[in-house]
Amino acid sequence: MNIILITGASSGIGVEFALQTDDIFDSVDEIWMIARRKEAMLEVAQHMEHTTRILDMDVTNEAQLERLRRLLAEEKPVIRMLINCAGYGVMGKFSGLREKEQLGMIEVNCRALTQMTYMCIPYMRKNSRIIQMASSAAFMPQPEFAVYAATKAYVHSFSRALNRELRPQRIYVTSVCPGPVDTPFFDIAEKDGKILAIKKLTMVHADKVAAQALADSYHKKEISIYGGFIRAFHVLAKLVPHKALLALLGCFTR
Ligand SMILES: NC(=O)c1ccc[n+]([C@@H]2O[C@H](COP(=O)([O-])OP(=O)(O)OC[C@H]3O[C@@H](n4cnc5c(N)ncnc54)[C@H](OP(=O)(O)O)[C@@H]3O)[C@@H](O)[C@H]2O)c1
Repeated sequence: MNIILITGASSGIGVEFALQTDDIFDSVDEIWMIARRKEAMLEVAQHMEHTTRILDMDVTNEAQLERLRRLLAEEKPVIRMLINCAGYGVMGKFSGLREKEQLGMIEVNCRALTQMTYMCIPYMRKNSRIIQMASSAAFMPQPEFAVYAATKAYVHSFSRALNRELRPQRIYVTSVCPGPVDTPFFDIAEKDGKILAIKKLTMVHADKVAAQALADSYHKKEISIYGGFIRAFHVLAKLVPHKALLALLGCFTR
C-alpha cells in the first residue's frame, strides 16, 4: 500500500497539502492525516477523493507515537511522501513568555519532526520524498520570536543535511521556508506579541505555499521559497552580516 503521511493536517498549510496531494497523486492508495483535532480533519477529508486515515494524536505524546509506530509495523505501507507540517510559534520577549509554550515549540517543531522523520524513513523507497515545514525565520535570528526562529533554523539545517545523506537511496528532502502565510498560525503566535507591520504586508495564501513546495519537491529541490520578497530576504540574509540586519530590524521594532 502506497501512502502519503501529513502532520498538521487539521489547519492552514497542512490542509492545503492534504487537498493538493489528493488532487495530484493518483498512484497513492491512502492519505494519512495527523493532528490533535479529529473533527477538523474529518471535515477536510470530506472534500478528498482518496481513502484517508485520520490519526488524531499529539505528535509530542510518546504513547500516541508508539501507536503510530505499531500501526506502521503492522501495515508496512510504502510512504511515498512524508509532510511534516505540525508546528506553532509564539511571539514576544523571551523572558515574558510562558516557559511551557517556549519549550513546547522545541518539542513540536524540532523533536516531533525529527522523531516522525526517523520513524518513516524505513518505510520509504526510491523516489520517496520528505517535505519539512521550516520558515524564513530560519534565515537569521529573530528577536521577540527567538525560540521559534531557532527551532526553524534547526529544521532547515537538519533537512538540508538529511537530503544529502538520503541521496544515495534516492529519497529527497525539501525544506520549505515561507514568510508570513495567512493561516490560524497567528491566532496562537500573536497572543502575546505582534507581527511587524512590514511582515504583514508580505502575507501570502497557504495554497500558493503548498503548491510551490510540492512542485519544488517534485523537482528534488533542497529548499522551497514562495514569493519574490522572501527570496530576496533569503539572499540578503546570506550576503549581509546578521549584525547589520538585526540593527535594521531593531529600527522597525522600536
Ligand atoms: N503561517 C505562517 O506564517 C508560517 C510561516 C512559515 C512557516 N510556517 C510553519 O508551517 C507549519 C504549518 O503552520 P500553519 O500556518 O498551517 O499553522 P496552523 O494553521 O496553526 O496549523 C498548525 C498545525 O499543526 C498542528 N499541531 C500543532 N501542534 C501539534 C501537536 N502537538 N500534535 C499534532 N499536531 C499539532 C495543528 O493541529 P491541531 O491543533 O489539530 O493539533 C495544525 O494542524 C508550521 O510548522 C509553521 O511553523 C507557518
